[in-house]
Amino acid sequence: MPRQIAVANQKGGVGKTTTVMNLGAALAGLGAQVLMVDLDPQAALTASCNFDPYNLTRTGYTLLTRNNGSVASCLRPVGPNLFLLPGTIDLAAAEVMLTHAPRAPFRLREAVARSRVPLDFILYDTPPNLGLLTVNALVASQELLIPVQCQYLSMRSVRALLETVWLVHKNMNPALDLLGVLATMYREHSDHSRQVVGELRAVFEDKVFDLVIPDEDAVAEAPVVKKSVLAYQPNSAAAQAYRHLAEEITHERRS
Ligand SMILES: Nc1ncnc2c1ncn2[C@@H]1O[C@H](COP(=O)(O)OP(=O)(O)OP(=O)(O)O)[C@@H](O)[C@H]1O
Ligand SMILES: [Mg+2]
Repeated sequence: MPRQIAVANQKGGVGKTTTVMNLGAALAGLGAQVLMVDLDPQAALTASCNFDPYNLTRTGYTLLTRNNGSVASCLRPVGPNLFLLPGTIDLAAAEVMLTHAPRAPFRLREAVARSRVPLDFILYDTPPNLGLLTVNALVASQELLIPVQCQYLSMRSVRALLETVWLVHKNMNPALDLLGVLATMYREHSDHSRQVVGELRAVFEDKVFDLVIPDEDAVAEAPVVKKSVLAYQPNSAAAQAYRHLAEEITHERRS
């Protein structure tokens, strides 16, 4: 089975989609077979990969709502070793439909389990809430990566996420473990950024990745030209940071 990593934080705009896009590209660059799954009805990841979210069939919606939906029939290549299972606005409808479905939190895990696609990693991009789509990602995954934006630390949102994670761990997925907390949009000369990372380390200790993702224009510009920052500006500090993150994740499974 592939290593499945949920990238989640119910606070909006913290760098979830950016992290899936760039970590996906970086892992693929190391030679791993990587699938990125867009579970957000906003479909920002899908748009960043140059697909039109308003004009797609065979998506995350199909996978979650059809009893025989399979990963293999929904994924599309986006680069060497790299695939996307796209999301659309229909995911919002899937969430409502699934509310009363049997085994609703397990739909994604069961779809992946019956698919048997030869992959090394599956990265799940989740929406900014703790609803059923995020829970499906947490139930399918063995690992959780929490991006936290350095400008505005909200320990409240991280605590609420961890409470949900604990419930999922206890009731639905005992295999779920915290891979790490990733400080994003770090401003090198900002006392506030340093303070946020300090607070994260005080709470999460060695679960905070040593590396931080710098706040850099290239990161925000890359999706506009439908590229990862690694392809857009390979020598940028952010591209380097995402490559380091991929190496760290590949070489040592943090526990
Ligand atoms: N390291 C960075 N440097 C500069 N801009 C960044 C960086 N990381 C993310 N951004 C920008 O910040 C915004 C929010 O990032 P992103 O969309 O990845 O967050 P998100 O957590 O997925 O948001 P949502 O909760 O809405 O899904 C985007 O415009 C993105 O381009
Ligand atoms: Mg997002």
